[in-house]
Amino acid sequence: MHVERPGIAGQMGKRVLLIVTGGIAACKVPELIRRGRERGLALRCVLTRAATQFVTPLTVASLAGEKAYTDLFSLTDEAEMGHIRLSREADLLVVAPATADILAKMANGLADDLASTLLLATDKPVLVAPAMNPRMWAHPATRRNVERLAADGVRFVGPEEGDVACGETGPGRMAEPETILEAVAAMLGPKPLAGLRALVTSGPTHEPIDPVRYVANRSSGRQGHAVARALAEAGADVTLVTGPVALSDPPGVTTVHVVTAREMLEACEKALPVDVAVCAAAVCDWRPARPAPDKIKKAEGAAAPVLELAENPDILCGLARRERARPRLVIGFAAETEALVAHAREKRRRKGCDWILANDVGAGTGVLGGDRNRIVLLRDEEDAESWPEMDKREVARRLVAEIARALAREDGR
Ligand code: C5P
Repeated sequence: MHVERPGIAGQMGKRVLLIVTGGIAACKVPELIRRGRERGLALRCVLTRAATQFVTPLTVASLAGEKAYTDLFSLTDEAEMGHIRLSREADLLVVAPATADILAKMANGLADDLASTLLLATDKPVLVAPAMNPRMWAHPATRRNVERLAADGVRFVGPEEGDVACGETGPGRMAEPETILEAVAAMLGPKPLAGLRALVTSGPTHEPIDPVRYVANRSSGRQGHAVARALAEAGADVTLVTGPVALSDPPGVTTVHVVTAREMLEACEKALPVDVAVCAAAVCDWRPARPAPDKIKKAEGAAAPVLELAENPDILCGLARRERARPRLVIGFAAETEALVAHAREKRRRKGCDWILANDVGAGTGVLGGDRNRIVLLRDEEDAESWPEMDKREVARRLVAEIARALAREDGR
């Protein structure tokens, strides 16, 4: 019997390929399958050899109402259904529980059994629910793998803090089945920005002094890239214009690489018209007025060269003050080191943008180049909404939820 639950309309009949790997948390898999089916999901399961030590293929198959797959080289399975089709026919792949071992394989593109082969062969979104000993979760190798997978577009749910089976305490428990299913719902559910176009700027700009030297700043591009990805996940058609960063292009986003502020402006203008523009780039306000055509040489006894600077175009201001093709929502960031709200409020007015996200980048905050951010959102003259400190990816998702709400209100949706 399928029990209707609020908020699951978008997932009825969606197909999930559930990959179970070998950890004690596999004992929660029967409940995950049962509750998933109650929500109307069609689940097909794959078990690694180690997983079969914790939960049997028969249990999984009986609950899922479908054969469970375990073997890469099973001739009968290959004859009935090539292993690639297993992932092609799914709307989403879920790895639960995900051991440190499968995370390492996924991060490195290994494919030596059915589960890892399917994960390498898929072009579908992947959700991972890690479960392992807290020391394994904290190990630098696992940290690297998680970072790599997140950059590849893999989504994570958990692990949660608490006692783990081996008697230790810390982050390592698999998220509860209901939490995993909520994450599934978020990935399969309706796309609030479907049909809308978005432009995001990210990263620093580099302004040449001569062919080998430049003026720049400490921006990593993490926040802007996370915003671009979150907008794409919400269904928007996203163009990301980025300065030089050490990040991979977000999946599902049209990424344009630029170096200078003037190139960034040109790429942004090409991307118009858009419904929403988020300017997260740390654009250099000034550039060397006359970059030298050849490397400037140090001559014995000569005075140090003096750089004359010219003002760069303000991209945010230009977008916000356009008469034609102004985006419906223009959003900027205000990185400040003191008097955060007052300066951000003044910036919002001066630039003419709709919203500004103020963030404290003072020494010791670790925001510039770091993973976390603390935001105050200013939507109008009076309003100042403080968000708790969170990961830049969470900031991005929260911002996108606010954007979706504002545009839906405007559209009367
Ligand atoms: O004036 P300030 O650089 O602090 O303003 C920050 C905001 O303005 C950010 O949203 C940034 O992306 C945008 N900006 C821009 N072009 C510039 C300078 C800043 O788009 N030349």
